[in-house]
Amino acid sequence: MNQFQGSHILSVNQLDLDSIQTIFNVAQKMTPYALREKRTRVLDGAILGNLFFEPSTRTRVSFSCAFDLLGGRVAETVGMANSSLSKGESLYDTARVLSSYSDVIAMRHPQSFSVKEFAEGSRVPVINGGDGANEHPTQALLDLFTIKKELNSNGMTIDGMHIAMVGDLKYGRTVHSLSRLLCMYKNITFTLISPKELAMPDYVIDDIENAGHRVTITDQLEGNLHQADILYLTRIQEERFPSQEEADKYRGKFRLNSAIYTKNCKSNTVIMHPLPRDSRSQANELDNDLNNNPSLAIFRQADNGLLIRMALFALTLGVADQLEQYECPV
Ligand code: CP
Repeated sequence: MNQFQGSHILSVNQLDLDSIQTIFNVAQKMTPYALREKRTRVLDGAILGNLFFEPSTRTRVSFSCAFDLLGGRVAETVGMANSSLSKGESLYDTARVLSSYSDVIAMRHPQSFSVKEFAEGSRVPVINGGDGANEHPTQALLDLFTIKKELNSNGMTIDGMHIAMVGDLKYGRTVHSLSRLLCMYKNITFTLISPKELAMPDYVIDDIENAGHRVTITDQLEGNLHQADILYLTRIQEERFPSQEEADKYRGKFRLNSAIYTKNCKSNTVIMHPLPRDSRSQANELDNDLNNNPSLAIFRQADNGLLIRMALFALTLGVADQLEQYECPV
């Protein structure tokens, strides 16, 4: 039995380098199934409860497609208004009920630690698809998987790399989870670039420093990217601000476009962003003029999300070594 079978996946703090490697090995094995070169029905008869109480495109749809690609069926609940949570039902009661209807549950919710609270009532594994500003562990895993592959293409490893994280580091849960995963590696340099009011929380910086990595904290983009191997941008998380006006104060403060990239970065600095990027105005934090730059890894990140989520379902449901056994014609 693998260590994930029957377990919730709520936080990156549950993981270590060995367990991450196990996930990455299974994710790699998922490639031909994700590319439709092979087909497996290993989860035939199983049901995913896909509960998204906050907007999502990538995470919700890739959880759903990952389960489908393994032969399972998906029961979706989208939006708080479509759930009896809006009538005052507790997370615990919701979990007790829905876990009788499904074999595994993926969940996103706007409150920090809500997915953990839900998991306490669940009789099946629960996977955190993002809980408020707290964590987004599956995004962190797909980001780390992407970083490893991209650096490998550039002849580098995660150990010894330099990452610049840019934007709303206070409310951006993906950078909280990713930083904690990176703490497990050796000799990393972190440059954290944000408005002072949106700085990385102290508890994350403490984790980075206590693990022996170097940290520079600044509110200036230009002049701080020259050494970066990975440039990880985030949008202003306007849904977590007290008001739209407050969020608008920070929009467009850190903007990467082709000219800024060429002037400030190495020619092979990998550009990452968890997406969505905000495209509603000139304030876009990642300009479309970088779309054809080969170092732009944002869509490769999204593709890797499918592999990672397929791996997590296969591991939590204990079928990761049975994929070939249940293969069927494409
Ligand atoms: N990266 C991410 O979580 O995207 P969605 O909000 O679209 O799921």
